[in-house]
Amino acid sequence: MRTLKHLFDRNRDWAAKMKERDPEFFARLSKQQAPQYLWIGCSDSRVPATEIVDLLPGEIFVHRNIANLVVHSDLNSLSVIQFAVEVLEVKNIIVCGHYGCGGVKAAMGDEKHGMMDNWVQYIRDIYRHHQIVLKAQPDEPARYNLLCELNVMEQVWNVCQTTFVQNAWDTGRELNVHGWIYDIGDGILKDLDVTVTNRAESVAIRRKV
Ligand code: CO
Repeated sequence: MRTLKHLFDRNRDWAAKMKERDPEFFARLSKQQAPQYLWIGCSDSRVPATEIVDLLPGEIFVHRNIANLVVHSDLNSLSVIQFAVEVLEVKNIIVCGHYGCGGVKAAMGDEKHGMMDNWVQYIRDIYRHHQIVLKAQPDEPARYNLLCELNVMEQVWNVCQTTFVQNAWDTGRELNVHGWIYDIGDGILKDLDVTVTNRAESVAIRRKV
């Protein structure tokens, strides 16, 4: 298919509906973006950032990749975090994982997936790091769910280690890093209660994960 006409049709309808609801919506947004949140989530099509918290375009700055990873040397996620923290001055960074994450699943088995296996290697490291508690789980589904949660906690820790986040805290700015998980089975978000609001708390979270 050379052109995806049906998507352009849907786009026209959507833009018209938005304008009908709020005639100044696009005019206002085109002047500047001032989102209050940075969302770091999975690429999974079932976990769209803005929709699941019922917000509008302009309200969340988003970075998504397979299994919502924040890798210390990944220029992509680091650039997003730097821009969000230093230029947009967001006050909240949300790392949101989800149960049933294919990236996490890929890291639990021996099946080969190609290039992606290198990316999910970071989750294999998390598995190794937490293998005692993971192996103590009653069954595979419980282990899978727990690894999805541990992965979020590790990424919260990684966000807290970035120089931009630490600089923000050192200069007394309010900046909160949250770890959430989404259930694709019922559409409900859960706060994993690992929120970090300063350097001291980031050390405490290290002990938790
Ligand atoms: Co996923």
